Order: sequence, then structure tokens, then C-alpha cells
Amino acid sequence: MTTYSRRLLASLLLLASSTFAAERARIDVRTDQPGASINPSMWGVFFEDINFGADGGLYAELVKNGSFEFPDPRTGWKKLGDKQVDDRIRYQQRDGGKTPANQRYVDIHGDGTGTWGLVNEGFRGIGVRVGENYDFSVEMRSASNGLMKLRVELINEKGVLAAAEIEGGNSNWRRFTATLVPKATEAKASLRITAIGLGHLQVDRVSLFPRNTWKNRVQGLRADMVQALADMKPGFIRFPGGCIVEGPNLALRYQWKKTILPKEERELLFNRWNTEMKDRQAPDYYQSFGLGFFEYFQLCEDLGAQPLPIINCGMACQFNSAELVPLEDLQPYIQDALDLIEFANGPVTSEWGAKRAALGHPAPFNMKLLGVGNEQWGPQYVERFDAFAKALKASHPEIELIAAAGPSPSDARFQYLWQNWRQLNPDYVDEHSYSPPAWFIEAFNRYDAYSRQGPRVFVGEYAAHTKGNRNNLEAALAEAVFMLGLERNADQVRLAAYAPLFAHVDAWQWRPDLIWVDNLRVMPTPNYFVQQLFSLNRGSQVLPTALSDAKPGSLFASASLEESSGEVIVKVVNPTAQPVEAVLSLEGRRTTPALCRRIQLSGATPSDENTLEQPAQVSPKTEGERPFDQIQTFAPYSFTILRIR
Ligand code: AHR
Repeated sequence: MTTYSRRLLASLLLLASSTFAAERARIDVRTDQPGASINPSMWGVFFEDINFGADGGLYAELVKNGSFEFPDPRTGWKKLGDKQVDDRIRYQQRDGGKTPANQRYVDIHGDGTGTWGLVNEGFRGIGVRVGENYDFSVEMRSASNGLMKLRVELINEKGVLAAAEIEGGNSNWRRFTATLVPKATEAKASLRITAIGLGHLQVDRVSLFPRNTWKNRVQGLRADMVQALADMKPGFIRFPGGCIVEGPNLALRYQWKKTILPKEERELLFNRWNTEMKDRQAPDYYQSFGLGFFEYFQLCEDLGAQPLPIINCGMACQFNSAELVPLEDLQPYIQDALDLIEFANGPVTSEWGAKRAALGHPAPFNMKLLGVGNEQWGPQYVERFDAFAKALKASHPEIELIAAAGPSPSDARFQYLWQNWRQLNPDYVDEHSYSPPAWFIEAFNRYDAYSRQGPRVFVGEYAAHTKGNRNNLEAALAEAVFMLGLERNADQVRLAAYAPLFAHVDAWQWRPDLIWVDNLRVMPTPNYFVQQLFSLNRGSQVLPTALSDAKPGSLFASASLEESSGEVIVKVVNPTAQPVEAVLSLEGRRTTPALCRRIQLSGATPSDENTLEQPAQVSPKTEGERPFDQIQTFAPYSFTILRIR
């Protein structure tokens, strides 16, 4: 080939490639200009006892109303035997009603036939696995001339799955235990207790736990649910709510001090999600506080997450009673917050630090963040927050305080609060958004224009609500676009969490939710995988990223640098039905990028979802490392992460 024809061929090839390139989008990442550092705790979770998230969920107790303390002591229990002779099973007052947390027990009057007893339905059934150990316990005493026994059985429609007999003891209350080992797996078993013998067998605090709990803690948390959280490596856990912090009225607000007492002294409380949703009522929904503040702090420590408690600010839920504590009576509420800091961080020689130590944790929990109020609004909130902030900052300037921005991301209540927060300067403002997917896509730029002076942003609750409120790919991709916008603004937005976290398929009040469970299974949603991908591929610094030549709305991108490994992490969302090809240019790099690992979450349609049977239908797929290619194709309905070395 002559020099001339070689030149001609080269120009033709250049022409062809530039014509083709013009149809491609461009993503330009400035690798030599690392910007804001991304908070290592940026991507966290928000836990609330909603949708049977704690009782019937994370807290592994399998017996509902085991202490007969629900307002109707029969809740969850069915009597066995001849219904005509109802007086053989009676609910009676315990210890003259002196112990607020334990007011009742049940008296079973056995007639020697061994047919009198009760069946507990659990939380929409009791999930048990073949061959595993289940620890039954009960407080009992008996009044009889002969020996009485309690027969304990796990049953399903086909018969008995596991059984044990416990001698009923004497006239003193005592705790008895037995191990049940089911011969079959059953998601909806029941627990039957029957009095054997002639006389009165008195029974209280009936309990059944899987032995296999998270970290094998006695009466601990459901291992598979905690594992799903651990797999996200959350940067923080916001707890215990949510609206339950506020309560429908002040008497029903969340009081953390009552939740660190010995378990038998933790008083049952109405759960506001019992009645809150008119079409999803849950009359059997109460808070046992088996998962209390000590357990929350312990969970944070287990998962390496920052504890981020929310405390009542002297206001009940403004969607309910809106009851207010007068400003002059606010001190006990402020003291609760001060004591909480001492409980979490104080020395073992302090009053509340000593209580932490007595619970088995002398070392501090290193709490650094505290929310005052949940979704409050209006001048009454501003006044109350201010009173809290003055007292808390005076004694604990090291604790960063979070103020709420109300229940909506842009209404008049939100504007009013932000104006005030610009004056009062809390460390963070907690914004909440439950909006359609389009809102989240538009909000890609939301934080670009936020002032960098004053409070930073904590996006404490958000979820894209599709038609029918489904946890589908459409919602997950919209959230991913939003999260790209948060990442790009990581100097201003320092913390974020999806909400709500858990839902039981047979007991939910609110959807969508990040993780669905039944009594034996856990189903991560596409939304879960988006959260997990952001958390596991966070990066340490934002890299300036520019997108060009893409059809509006067809591609969204952000990039970060992982300083420790030198990797560039590029995140790209294509929420459309068409593939998008892009030239990915890493500007200012000192070496040629060598290898790239591609992780992609995608599906065939925006309505793709996971199911309990197929929990990984929509889940990320990771390709092995391969040489970096500047030309990347982003599949329809996809979220792609490129980790480039
Ligand atoms: O996440 C469910 C509820 O939504 C929370 O309890 C509340 O803060 C918000 O309104």
C-alpha cells in the first residue's frame, strides 16, 4: 500500500469513527481533581417497628402475647377443649398488679384428661426448621395435690412437629425451659400448651426462640434478617423510628429508658401502626421492646454502623393528636437526651454508663449523632429543638444534632423549617421524601444548588412510590439516579437511608419496603440491591463527572475515587428502554487504566420484581476483571458500576 492510500484509509477510518462517536454519549471523569470526601457512614439504614419489623420480625421471639399483657389477654391465643366449660382457663392478675410490665397470667384448671390448654398462633404463624433447636421457656407454678405437668407442642395441620413435657413445680413461680426440635420445616406452625394432671397450672411469660439467632445470642435477633443488613455494610442505623418515636399521643411515645430494663420489666406499648393505616389495620400490633436501646446499640456495633437514635422532642405525631409538652415542662425530655448520651458514651462510673456496663457493655458505644424529633414541623418544633440544642451543645458539643424538615421535601412546612435552621444552625437537617419515580429522577440535581453554608443534609427517609407502591426495578433505578445526585453532592449531603426497612408479607402496613420477609425467608428487593451497591462501592472522594451528547433523561452518571486502592468507581444509570453507548473518558490520569470490573443490576422491564421464591431475580451480576474499554454500553433499565484500576 502506498503512503497516499495508507493516509486515505486512515482518514476514512477517522471519519467513520468520529461519525459513530457523535452518536455516542460521553462521560468525562476528572480523575486528577478529587473533590469532596464522601462520608464513610454516608449510606445507612433506617429501622422502625413498622410492618412487624421488630416484634414478629427482627426480634426473634416466636410467641405473640406470651405474657398475656395485650389489652385483650386472649390475643394470639385460642383455648383448647370444650368451649362450654370456658371457666377452666382464666386470665388472672399477677402479684396484685404491682409489676406494671407483668399484670397477668393464665390459670389452666386440669381435670386429669390432659385436654385443657391454649394454642398460640405466633406472628402470622411460627416459622420452624427441621432439626433445629427451639428454646421454649415459661414461668409456672401449680396448685394441686398431685404432680402437674405442662405439655408443649409445636403443631401444624398434619400433627405434632415437636413435643416436650415440663413438670409444673410447686406453688412458687419458677422459670422452666425445654428444647423443641421439629421433625419438619413449617412456616406457619402453632404452639400448643396443655395442662396434664388434676389441679391448677398457672402459666406466664411463655416464650419460644430459635437457638440460631444473630451471633447466637440468647433471646436475640433473627439471624437471616440481620445478615441481610450486614450484607449492606450500613454506615449508620437510624432508630427506633419514625412516627413511633412521636407516638399518637405523648403517653404512647417511645421512651428509651423503659427499653433497657431487664426484659421482664419492659412494659408493653401500643404500636401506632396498629391503627394508623385504615385499610391495613393490625389490632395485634404492640411493642414488647425485646429489641430495645441496648440491643440497637449492640446491633450498630456488630455491623460497624454509627448509632443514630431519634428522641422525642416533646411533641406527639402532628398527623395524630399533635400533643405538645409546654416549654416550661420540657426539661425531663431534655434530660432523657442527656442521659441517653451518657448511657451510650459515659464512663462506667457515671449513672447511665454504669447501666450500660451492667448490661454487659462497659466500653462506650461511641455515639456521635442524635436526632431531636422525627417529622415535626411549625414554630412549636423550632422552639423545642432550640431548647434541646442549647442544653445538649452546652454539655456535649461533640454530639452532632439532627433537626427535622417535616414530612415532605418541599412544602411550606419544609421551607419554614429550613429558614429557621439557617438561623439556628443544627449540624444536619433531615429531609424525607416518598414521591413518584419521576421526582427522584428530577432530583438528580436537587442538591447542586444547596448553600454550602450552614447545616448539612441527612436524607433520613426516602423511597420512590410507583403506581401500586411496588418494589420494582423502575423504583430502584429512580432511587439510584437520586443517589447519584447525593453522591455528587457528598460535601453537602452526608447521610442517607431508604425507608421503611423491613416488611412481613402477611403483616405489613406500608409499602414499598427495602426487605420483605415471611417466617422463614428473606427477600431483598431491587431497591435493596441499589442501596447495597452504593454502600459497597462508595469510594472516598467525589470525582468531577460531566455527561454530554446523551438524550435528556437517558443516562445519569457519577464517579468517585477509592483512595486506598486507587480505583476509579463510575456509576451509571440508564432508566430507559434503549441501550445507551457512551465513551468513558478518564481525564488527567497518570497511567493507562488497565483493568475494569463491571457490576450491573438490570431487568427486562421496569416492573421486574423479586419474589420470596426467586429473591435474586433482579440482582447485581458481576463480570470478571477485563481490560478497560472506553466504549461502554449501558443496557436498558440498568444500573452499572465500573471499578477501574
Ligand atoms: O417510614 C414510614 C414512616 O414515614 C415513618 O414512620 C415516618 O417518619 C414517615 O412518615
